Amino acid sequence: MENQPFARRKFFEWGIGIIAGLIGMASSIPLVGSLLSPLFKKSVEKWVDIGLVMLLKGSRYQKVDYEFLYQDGWIKANKKRSVYVTHLGGEDFIVFSRTCTHLGCNVRWSDKRQQFLCPCHGGVYDAEGKVIEGPPPKPLTHLQTKIESGILYVRES
Ligand code: FES
Repeated sequence: MENQPFARRKFFEWGIGIIAGLIGMASSIPLVGSLLSPLFKKSVEKWVDIGLVMLLKGSRYQKVDYEFLYQDGWIKANKKRSVYVTHLGGEDFIVFSRTCTHLGCNVRWSDKRQQFLCPCHGGVYDAEGKVIEGPPPKPLTHLQTKIESGILYVRES
């Protein structure tokens, strides 16, 4: 009987502690969520301007370099890319990524051989980007394109 007030006081102390803890956790959820949310966002695909259509018309495996802002999670950086642009006629262009599908070296177009050559391990691609020699497992990537207001855009992810 003498321990009852003590036990009741302990019970209330524990109860208040648990309630305060729950309130603290609940109020921190938005903060934790906003800190972690970039981790769960997929990188945003974007259209990048690679040049005026009137300047690229008639191009044949023309090397074009460009830069764009890349964001993935907390990482924000300028990325440099390089592609080969070929005008197929009218509003149609084909844009080849220069990234070798083996280990990512930059391929170069050879006018003499009419092939893309990779300097790293001897990968060779034909004029359409198909692998004809060496270790690359896949053809060169063709970037998706669109034309708006006289500008050629490629889709970057
Ligand atoms: S990186 Fe191109 S062949 Fe290996």
